[in-house]
Formats: sequence, structure tokens, C-alpha cells
Amino acid sequence: MKLRNSTLRMQTFVLTLALLTIGIATARAQFPFQPQKPKGPWMDKTLSPDQRADLAIAQMTLDEKIALLHGGGWAELFALFAPDGTAPATRSLGNAGYIPGIARLGIPDLQMADAAVGVTHGSVFGRYCTALPSGVSEASTWDLTMAREYGALIGRELRDQGYTMSLGGGIDLTREPRNGRIFEYKGEDPILAGKLVGAEMRALQEQGVVGDLKHYAMNDQENGRNYVNIKADRRAMRESDLLAFEIGVKDSGVGAVMCSYNLVNGVYACENDYLLNTALKKDFGFQGFVISDWGATHSVAKAAMAGLDMEMPGNDHFGEPLKKAVESGEVPAARLNDMVHRILRSEFAVGLFDNPPGRQEVDPMAGFEVAQRVAEQGTVLLKNADHQLPLAAAGIRSIAVIGSHADVGVLSGGGSAQVDAAGGSAVPPRAGLSPMEQVFGNPVWHRSSPLKAIRAQAPNAKVEFDPGTDTATAARLAQASDVAIVFVSQHASEGVDVPSLTLPQNQDALVSAVAAANPHTIVVLETGGPVTMPWIDHVSGVLESWYPGIRGAEAIANILFGEVNPSGKLPLTFPKSEADLPRPELAHQPPGRPEDMKALFPGVPYKENTRQFDLDYSEGLKVGYKWYDAEAKVPLFAFGHGLSYTTYAYSGLKITPAVPPAVTFTVENTGSRAGAEIAQVYVTLPAAAGEPFQRLVAWEKVQLAPGESKTVTATLDSHYLSIFNADQDAWELVPGDYQVHVGGSSRDTPLHRTFTIKDVEKGQSPPPAGGDK
Ligand code: NOJ
Repeated sequence: MKLRNSTLRMQTFVLTLALLTIGIATARAQFPFQPQKPKGPWMDKTLSPDQRADLAIAQMTLDEKIALLHGGGWAELFALFAPDGTAPATRSLGNAGYIPGIARLGIPDLQMADAAVGVTHGSVFGRYCTALPSGVSEASTWDLTMAREYGALIGRELRDQGYTMSLGGGIDLTREPRNGRIFEYKGEDPILAGKLVGAEMRALQEQGVVGDLKHYAMNDQENGRNYVNIKADRRAMRESDLLAFEIGVKDSGVGAVMCSYNLVNGVYACENDYLLNTALKKDFGFQGFVISDWGATHSVAKAAMAGLDMEMPGNDHFGEPLKKAVESGEVPAARLNDMVHRILRSEFAVGLFDNPPGRQEVDPMAGFEVAQRVAEQGTVLLKNADHQLPLAAAGIRSIAVIGSHADVGVLSGGGSAQVDAAGGSAVPPRAGLSPMEQVFGNPVWHRSSPLKAIRAQAPNAKVEFDPGTDTATAARLAQASDVAIVFVSQHASEGVDVPSLTLPQNQDALVSAVAAANPHTIVVLETGGPVTMPWIDHVSGVLESWYPGIRGAEAIANILFGEVNPSGKLPLTFPKSEADLPRPELAHQPPGRPEDMKALFPGVPYKENTRQFDLDYSEGLKVGYKWYDAEAKVPLFAFGHGLSYTTYAYSGLKITPAVPPAVTFTVENTGSRAGAEIAQVYVTLPAAAGEPFQRLVAWEKVQLAPGESKTVTATLDSHYLSIFNADQDAWELVPGDYQVHVGGSSRDTPLHRTFTIKDVEKGQSPPPAGGDK
């Protein structure tokens, strides 16, 4: 496929998608592509993926190798720019990325679909894919079983739609809570995020598609994402954002990692030798391929030698220019083969050669089940004064349901993660939106109606809806009702950060007015990340449902009425105020000077501000709760917080001095309902480590019947107890006393104990752990 000026054209996803909304005919043909079953020795399934990749490479011409290292994407966009206005002949399914396979060798097409919270663009095939709750909801389950279900479902639906590769697996940490993509990610803790994404990607790949982790690395805000230069020291990176990727890579054996748009310490992430070659490939042992984010490739030999394996989309660097660089010896043939090897071994490893996807209908009912389960486990009960919840339907005569289109649907996150709403958005887009706004400023509401779900739970109550647009009428309805349930929301999307943590559209005033009118006011949040709550002392209950997906309303109603006992815990901190953040002001790209304003698309009057700017991560590795603990700031809701309709007691903490040490404790359900408690283990390192704040090192979800006790034993991974010694370029355990804290949230740890790690002989790893004090 000839893609002219493609990188330029694809430079920002924002404009790309905006153009797509103008309405372009699709260019798909001849699906599915079933390459003839080749007879080559690389088809011997008894060989390892690496051996098979090498055997296939031995047959490939230079042109064939180069052809696997770049591709198209958004096939319709290319069609738009085709000289004669017609679509190029392509087997592309028209989602984010496409690299044609090589039939004579049986190399399958790489059909890539964005799939962060479900497979996108399902409607193209007339069959919708499951809109799962957002990634931060999955993270709120703290449950690797849920993460596996999440990944398996996405993998299955990708296959059903004919895709061979997922673009999802986002784990940039919540350094900037206004980041528009927090809903895609898994919170602020590297170990929690890494373990969850590891489980998710392993399960996804077991469905026979290539998985990916993204956006590597330090891509923690959308504002200026193409031009921001993150300044962070190595230790801070390795113990925070990079640790999440390290764990994710190691736990999943994921086939691909997507490098990000931004620069890190002065070098673009996609040509950053330290990030790609040293950390990812050498230290984490990543065997798959590095794919650029869309338009994030900036060089040929520099990027290839720094560890980038695939340019997407376009061919400006890894097309003819890379071929020339190989021919001239600037990029050695061995490195070219390594690039191809990494791609092919990932395809062999998930079974793409042996078992290419065949199209079949997505099973929506199976999707509903997983979506609802994740939403039920991922919804977090933040406040429940006087046991206002669960609501006892039998005793309630009237309920006011207010705000946030709760009569028709639940909100979802936008951008490349946007999953098509089955049947179209429940709330039609506002009139007069520009193409850009249609994609990025246009909230999509899935057809899962909280009003209906609440009515189903309370069939004898009068359940009335008020849109919440007029606080006075909403307050009147609240006053006339036994209970008021106010839904509030904040839309978030790729491409733009939320302007602040304040709920938009006067919703704080709405909550305050309703709470003043009715003492039994419950707030249900549908947000991408944290928000501030100036009304918190005046409401009885608060439930964070995130973007809860296609069965969100049913999950919310089940929790409100006690069919489900909430167990979700926050994977990120809710600050009291933006003044408490490491950066009270969101870092903005400075305005472009004339010399920084470049036309993006030839002939299209759109100029992009290309001015680079520094963002100093002076908070270092103090991300999220570590920041609040270190700075002695009291959050609104702490990392790990989440209430239940029952109560739990912790006792009997013991530490087994072994290598690695194990902690044992007992959790008892002291209330009258069955529940699941996420018991959390934090450790504060010895003073010599220079990290006077705790870190999460283990957790366990414990299912308990009323009155039941269970003893939990968690073995502490030496890696999670270690610090990264940047001088030695290695992890090390610091000798000294380690304080263990155990409980139900980072700010509620009733059990404490200390163990000692004795002096370490140089080179001995891991060192012996000392006794329990
Ligand atoms: C850019 C986004 O950052 C990335 O997450 C996505 O996968 C690609 N565009 C393709 O849509």
C-alpha cells in the first residue's frame, strides 16, 4: 500500500478522528483473509515461537521485512486522501491499524482495534461489542480474576470481529488526576496497575490475539502530549510508572508495547534508548515488539537503533527510508531481523499462524454478564452515613432520581477508547458541534437506564425523574420524596484533560440544593477520575460508579438496594482540593509562536502548536497516596478506601522471617451480611532507603460470610520491597527495619509490625530477611 506523507497526515489522532466523522465510505474488501496454509518448517508447532520466527525470516526478502514494520490505519482516512478519491484496495477492517500479511509465507494480517474498555467501532459490522466499565473501574475491583474476565472478553470479541491485535492495556499512572484518559488506566499504584494489566493481557492473548501495553512512558496528561518533555530521574521512573510496565510485561508475556507521544528527559519516547532498549527490552525481558503511538515516530535509524520496531501508521520512517538505512548499513541487518523477529514471535506465541480468527457474531449476553460483574465489583461506596444504604425498597414510598440523563443511560469515556453505543447514544449529540467536538466533546451515553433499574428494584415506590437542569425544580422533587438519588457526571476523553476536578455544569449546586431539600440524599458519580465534593458533609451517601458500561445502571441499582454488597476500593486518591496536588495547576503547553505553528494537513487550514515544553516531575516517585502521606495532606478519600454494608475486623498480624518474608493476619466479618474485603498490606522501608512513606506491596480479596474469619497469608515479593539504585542500575533491598501496615485502606491500617532485613553481602540477592519483632 502506498501511503504518501502519511505521518504528517496522521500526526494527531484528534484531527484524524475528527475527519473520520465527516463521513467517509469504508474501504473494506475480501474478509476474512485466510492465507494458504504454507508448508514451511516454521509451521511446525513443536518449535518455539522464536525458532519459528527465525525460520520464517530466513525466507523473507528485504522488501517483505520492511513491509511488516509499518502499516496503514484508519483505512477510510487514506481513502479520503487517495488522489482519485477512491479507496485503496485493502483488506483492512478499518479500525486503528492494519499491516497486510504475506500470503506466501502464511503471515497473517495484523488487524489492530482500539480496545481499552471494549472493542471499538463494533457498529461498523452491525454488531456491537461490549461496552465494559472503564479501566479504573476494573482497577477498583483489585481482583485479578475480574481483570482476567475483562481481558478474555475483549480478546474474544476482537477475534469475533476478525481482529488480530488489541490496542488497549493502558497503565499510565495517575500523576495528574485531570488527565482526560484516567478512565482508561488503572490508577496510581504501579504494583496494583501492573498486576491487573498483567492478568488482563495474559487472558486477552489466550484468546489468540496479540495484546499491548500503552503508553510507554510517562504519558500522564493529554495537554501538549506530543510536545511535553517529562523530566524525571531514573529512580523515580523505575519505582513508579516504569514499574507498572515491568510487572505488566513480566506477568503477561504481552506481544507489544506502544511507546508514547511525549519526550522523556529530552528524547522522544519512541526513540528513547533508555526506555526501550535498556529498561523495557533488557531489564524487563520484553520479547515482543515496540509499536509507536499513532504518529509518534520521529526518526529512522535513531528510532530503530533505540528499540522502536514498528511505525504506525504510515511509512515516512520505517518504509523506504528504513530500507535505505539498512542498505547503507546505518541500521544493521541484524537489527532489522530483530525487529521482524519480535513481531513474528508475538504472532506465533498467541497462535495467529496456526489459528487465524474467523468471523463470528459477538455474543452480547456473555458480554453483559462480564460488564455487570465488573461494574458491581468496581463501584466504590465512598460514604454511607447512618447506614442510609442499602435502601430497603419495602419501606420507601417515593424516590427522586435526579440529573445526568439517568432516565436513559450511563456516561462513557471518549477518544480512541470510545466503544460504540449499542443502538446509538442514549442522549443525542448537541446540535452545531464541529467535527472535532463530535468526537472529543460529545459524550456518548450507553443505553442502561438507572431510572428503569431503580424502578425495577422498588416496584411499589413512586420513582420520578428530574433532569437536574433547574436546581429549584430538582430540589422540589427531592423535598417531596422519601429519598433523593442525584446522578452527577464529568465527561473525559482522550485528547483533552478535564479543566478541573470540579463537576461541570453547576452540578455541585444541584447536589447542594437537593441535599438541603432532603436529608436522605445519595450521590452517584459517573466520572473518569476523582472530583472534588464541596457538598460532602451534607449528603448521606456517595457511590463512585466511574463509567460503568452497558450494564452500569443494573449494577448501580443492585448496590443501592443491597442485592450486591459493595467491595470496590479506590485505586487512586480523591484530593480535597486541587491545591493539594503536586501541581495545583495543570501544566499547559505554552502558546505557539509563529515559528511553532505548523500546518498539519496540506490544504487543511489547521495549524498545530509544535512548541515543546518541560514538565518537571519534581514529586518524583511520590505518586498518589505516597505524595499525600509524605506531604501530610489529608485526602477527601484515600487510596484503598471503599465501604461495605458489613464491617470487618483485623487481627493477629505475624511475619514469617523467610526469603521472601510472609505476612499472616486474620480478617473477620463482624456484621450481618456476606461481603468481600480487600485487605491491603503496606510497607514503609528503612530510613536508609530515603522513602519515608508507605507503599502497597500485597493485597487479598477475602470473601466472608457473616461472623466468618479467614486467615490470610501474603508472601512479600522482594522486588516490591526494593529500591532502584540508579548508580548501580539495579534493584536492591536496603538492610534495616521494615514496618508492615495492614488494613482496609491506605489510611486505615490497624495492624502494624516490623521485620528486619539484615546486612546484605555485596552481590547477594535476594538477601535474607530477619525475624519478626
Ligand atoms: C492514539 C492513542 O493515543 C492510542 O491510544 C491509540 O491506540 C491510537 N491513537 C490508535 O487509535
